[in-house]
Amino acid sequence: MSLCEMSNLHAKAAATLHQTAFEKSWSEQEFLNLFSLNTTKGWMDESSLLVISLVLDEIEILTILTHPNFRGQGKAKALLEHLISYAKENNVRQIFLEVNIENQPAISLYEKMGFTKTGVRKNYYKMKDGLFKDALLYRLLTHI
Ligand SMILES: CC(C)(COP(=O)(O)OP(=O)(O)OC[C@H]1O[C@@H](n2cnc3c(N)ncnc32)[C@H](O)[C@@H]1OP(=O)(O)O)[C@@H](O)C(=O)NCCC(=O)NCCS
Repeated sequence: MSLCEMSNLHAKAAATLHQTAFEKSWSEQEFLNLFSLNTTKGWMDESSLLVISLVLDEIEILTILTHPNFRGQGKAKALLEHLISYAKENNVRQIFLEVNIENQPAISLYEKMGFTKTGVRKNYYKMKDGLFKDALLYRLLTHI
């Protein structure tokens, strides 16, 4: 997989990809806003992307996705492996994220990559149907 490092030049492609994967997707403007911050980094190819926030020695995963036609081929795993290498090279202490309690593919992905559950935010996500779902918090220690 040839990943490229994202910048505001990728905002349009990122928004197009994002809407294939999320009920509440991010617009081109939202990606532009994110990449105007010097704490934002990301990597993508034609069918997958990962965007993070790096503050001091902590990374938060803001979004990760694979286009539905390309799932189950190890693309998200490759993105996270890339991120973990990046974290280790840059003395990042931990990577953390939150995930909808009903998102079993993502939960399995994170657990496979060594993330461990650290907490729950009750009723954190408001879905399109108006119902609320819990968020699970996960963390990977990268510099021990
Ligand atoms: C979650 C997501 C990113 C996984 O992407 P992917 O490229 O298909 O994942 P990979 O092929 O790299 O899978 C790696 C591991 O994740 C887990 N996994 C991925 N899809 C899974 C599924 N449908 N069911 C169960 N486990 C799954 C497995 O452990 C898998 O390893 P294995 O293939 O050896 O069993 C993808 O389903 C997606 O884009 N979902 C919508 C967006 C989203 O929910 N993002 C996460 C928000 S927190």
